[in-house]
Amino acid sequence: MKKLAIILIILAISLPVFAAAATEQASEANADYSSMSLDQLKAAITTVNKGKFTVATSPDFAPYEFYAIGEDGVPSLAGFDMSLAKYIADFLGLELEVIPMDFDGTIMEVQNKNVDAGMAGYSPAPERAEVMEFSSVYYTGGQSFVTTKANADKFKSLDDTNKKEVSVAAQVGSIQMGLANEFSPNADIIALSKVTDIIAELLTGKIDGAYIETVVAESYKKNYPDLEIVCDVPYEAEGSVVGVSKGNLALLEGVNRAIEQALSDGSMGEFVNEANIKASGNIIEGLLN
Ligand code: ARG
Repeated sequence: MKKLAIILIILAISLPVFAAAATEQASEANADYSSMSLDQLKAAITTVNKGKFTVATSPDFAPYEFYAIGEDGVPSLAGFDMSLAKYIADFLGLELEVIPMDFDGTIMEVQNKNVDAGMAGYSPAPERAEVMEFSSVYYTGGQSFVTTKANADKFKSLDDTNKKEVSVAAQVGSIQMGLANEFSPNADIIALSKVTDIIAELLTGKIDGAYIETVVAESYKKNYPDLEIVCDVPYEAEGSVVGVSKGNLALLEGVNRAIEQALSDGSMGEFVNEANIKASGNIIEGLLN
């Protein structure tokens, strides 16, 4: 009898505590980040390393991200994704940390939640929505089929790319690989880890053509005028987004607010101009190992 009474008392005391904890969790999950003030939002944001905004990128993609050679001859990360990353970090009062790696690695790192975000010119491809949150679009480009001047007249349309004697490259893990499979299924499709390797193989005649984002192809063409953009390639999920760690909705809200401000205060336009200037001429190391 006494035991039962004790159990009942313990239950009576602990139930409201559990209930309170459960409500707190629920309200956290449903927290309406969009209605918070920026200060409230900043306080609610959690990141993999406290106080830091840790971002994975793939610096083979001028003018988004690339290595620019400074006057001192030292290469450093540049590009409008990098400027935007810094802008977002500053906006949220976080210190920016960028980790360079191959493109498919950036997606893995976001998926495994080892970083807060991937900023690598991500297209909001539907198949990626399961492993990351998409920010709003901060830049819109298009897709192209690229070859060399010498081969340009062989590719009048995308049909000409779809032949078994044609070798076509695309970056591992990119939507361009999907485009290669869609438009050139009969070609010899070659997967390369870096866009800069694709450019090198094109220039040395190891491959006939490649699927590359148009602004990126245009950027490398400035340094390597032998490149030729021959066809536009249709793609549905146009636009570039930040890939935020799945479920980190507070950070997603913060990233979106920063993007909105960067677009409206003219910063984004400046980042793009700056990146285009840095990416042309001799300061870009187009062919990284
Ligand atoms: N937009 C394409 C995608 O999301 C290609 C991005 C490649 N980015 C890079 N930094 N290499 O799949």
